[in-house]
Amino acid sequence: MHRLSEVYDNVTSQTIEESSIVKLLHEYGSHVFDSTASEMKDIVSAARFFSHMPLEGFVADVGAGEGAAALGIALLCERPVLAIELIAERAARISASAERFGIESLEAVAGDAFDTDLSGAAGLYMNSPFFSKEVPAFMDKLARECRPGTRLFAVNAIVSDLARDPRLRPVPAEGLRYCTAAFELA
Ligand SMILES: C[S@@+](CC[C@H](N)C(=O)[O-])C[C@H]1O[C@@H](n2cnc3c(N)ncnc32)[C@H](O)[C@@H]1O
Repeated sequence: MHRLSEVYDNVTSQTIEESSIVKLLHEYGSHVFDSTASEMKDIVSAARFFSHMPLEGFVADVGAGEGAAALGIALLCERPVLAIELIAERAARISASAERFGIESLEAVAGDAFDTDLSGAAGLYMNSPFFSKEVPAFMDKLARECRPGTRLFAVNAIVSDLARDPRLRPVPAEGLRYCTAAFELA
């Protein structure tokens, strides 16, 4: 098991601020990801949130970029992680990072999240991959395809778009900030 996962297991009773996991992840991340400490904290919060979901299934990073969140979540959460990224070069970089660091639970696919089967997802990580005007259509897809109880961890602008959707209800999560929110599909 990866060193970070062991650290994570040892700090589950502490708050994120008290724990050394954020510092460690950031130190580790500085070699892998170009993320700030705050972003790392959000990734830790998301990983914890996804570790305690009611449904069986994988975690999808919708619009995974170069994989900072997908790699961090895969390191810290026992669930399989599917990183979906429209730009093929970015998806390839995620695959290369996963291979380099031996993260077997992470699969990166190059493609459009609107065309990806998400019926097996128990949780979705969404760091504002879409413009606001695209969010209702994506929510239509989730409502059609995903099971009630599917969890969403939202980051940045998409938080307010999702907060307006009547098919989602807010759920508690540790370490939420003004720019992060957690939801469940009704
Ligand atoms: C803000 S970045 C998110 C990065 C990553 N989730 C993270 O937090 O580390 C948004 C990404 O979503 C991708 N994206 C936009 N529309 C998409 C779509 N329809 N399907 C898949 N990826 C998409 C963009 O190419 C971009 O890389």
